[in-house]
Amino acid sequence: MAKAKSTYFCQSCGAQSPKWLGKCPACNEWNTFVEELIQKDDKNTPQWKSGTSTQISSKPKPISQIVYNEAHRINAFDGELNRVLGGGIVPGSLVLIGGEPGIGKSTLMLQIALSLGTEKVLYVSGEESEQQIKMRAERLGIQSDNCYILSETSTQNIFKQIEVLEPTILIIDSIQTLTSSFIESGAGSISQVRECTSELLRYAKESGTPVFLIGHITKEGTLAGPKVLEHMVDTVLQFEGDRHLAYRILRTTKNRFGSTSELGIYEMTGFGLREVTNPSEILISQRDDTLCGITIGATLEGNRPLLIEIQSLVSIATYGTPQRSCTGFDAKRLNMLLAVLEKRGGFRLGTQDVFLNIAGGIRVEDPAMDLAVCTSIISSYQDIYIPKEVCFAAEVGLGGEIRAVNRIEQRISEAEKLGFKEIFISKYNKVVQDPNAKIKIHAIGKLDEALGELFG
Ligand code: TYD
Ligand code: MG
Repeated sequence: MAKAKSTYFCQSCGAQSPKWLGKCPACNEWNTFVEELIQKDDKNTPQWKSGTSTQISSKPKPISQIVYNEAHRINAFDGELNRVLGGGIVPGSLVLIGGEPGIGKSTLMLQIALSLGTEKVLYVSGEESEQQIKMRAERLGIQSDNCYILSETSTQNIFKQIEVLEPTILIIDSIQTLTSSFIESGAGSISQVRECTSELLRYAKESGTPVFLIGHITKEGTLAGPKVLEHMVDTVLQFEGDRHLAYRILRTTKNRFGSTSELGIYEMTGFGLREVTNPSEILISQRDDTLCGITIGATLEGNRPLLIEIQSLVSIATYGTPQRSCTGFDAKRLNMLLAVLEKRGGFRLGTQDVFLNIAGGIRVEDPAMDLAVCTSIISSYQDIYIPKEVCFAAEVGLGGEIRAVNRIEQRISEAEKLGFKEIFISKYNKVVQDPNAKIKIHAIGKLDEALGELFG
């Protein structure tokens, strides 16, 4: 038995160090290093197939001689997942699905496993017993003879079963519950998660079987989770939504085989997840068409496009100094935009109280929200509502000019997917209107032009 070795791992980014450090040199987080036991026998590197070495040493080849055959994709029988993956499941790909506990990851994957009628699917669960999974399957009400369930956490045992069953699709629920006997530390630790993923990665690439991994993330993000895995897998999907609301969004944050601006929307029902083919139904239910002071801005949260509702209320100030109050938006920026509206637009806002609220308790710092904020204020000031199919993505300069914002295509495509019919952007963004697009682009150069078009 080799001597047990230990290394320190940063729980936030997975950086490794032989000794404890207070601050991680890789991600600059404090107090994240934790000692983990590792024991890896170098001579006996783990093989997904016991006893057979399938490693072939590769030689460099001229790129012109590499034959590329358009990978045959497997239909997932789920329109949203197919789209998010870039047109179906790629053979040999490793896909990670992350999300908070209870959001519906197991439900989604079991539903897909059951719908893939002709493929032999192995659903490995380290979290639930076979009976619990059966109960869930009954609830979903989909029959399948080709879906196999295995309740197991040891990767070596899983690979033994794989050799016997030879599935064409493998689903692991979840990567944090797996353990490899090559590593001593407990399930869910960075070194275990990394080792189990690399074993599954090798299996996926050598056998050509697509592997789906479910991964947990906590609100704090401290768990050895998707962050470490993101580098190793081909595709990262995020399953998100409010647990108390029925809608769930599936997005790609990384995809080696497709675009990352795709998004799938589901509704959690009593009988599993339902694909939402007309996403605007989510937005329409939320407000009345005739409410003044409400606009929608297309912002980016990290690299994720997000449409956010802005509400404002402008009313005559009854006391000497008008109040300016906002939640979720920078107060200085609001004052600046009010000054621009006063000076360049000629609106007498100096005598008005202005209250601004970003709905949903979100905080935005994206300058692309400027135009949505300005139009929201004027909509309330003039008591003229803005149709709910209209959204905005542009920065407003001090001269009242409409400035370009980054990643405009992503914002436009998100708005289009969410059912918006018109979007106001800067004419300096140089976006070509796609004649087939369902969304109309208003490219404008001055604030007055936008206000003119909206309020006449
Ligand atoms: P689950 O898939 O277990 O979440 P995760 O694997 O991400 O932790 O699903 C959790 C929730 O989904 C649970 O609160 C119950 C709900 N649910 C439904 O509303 N309808 C259904 O048909 C199923 C199977 C689950
Ligand atoms: Mg689960």
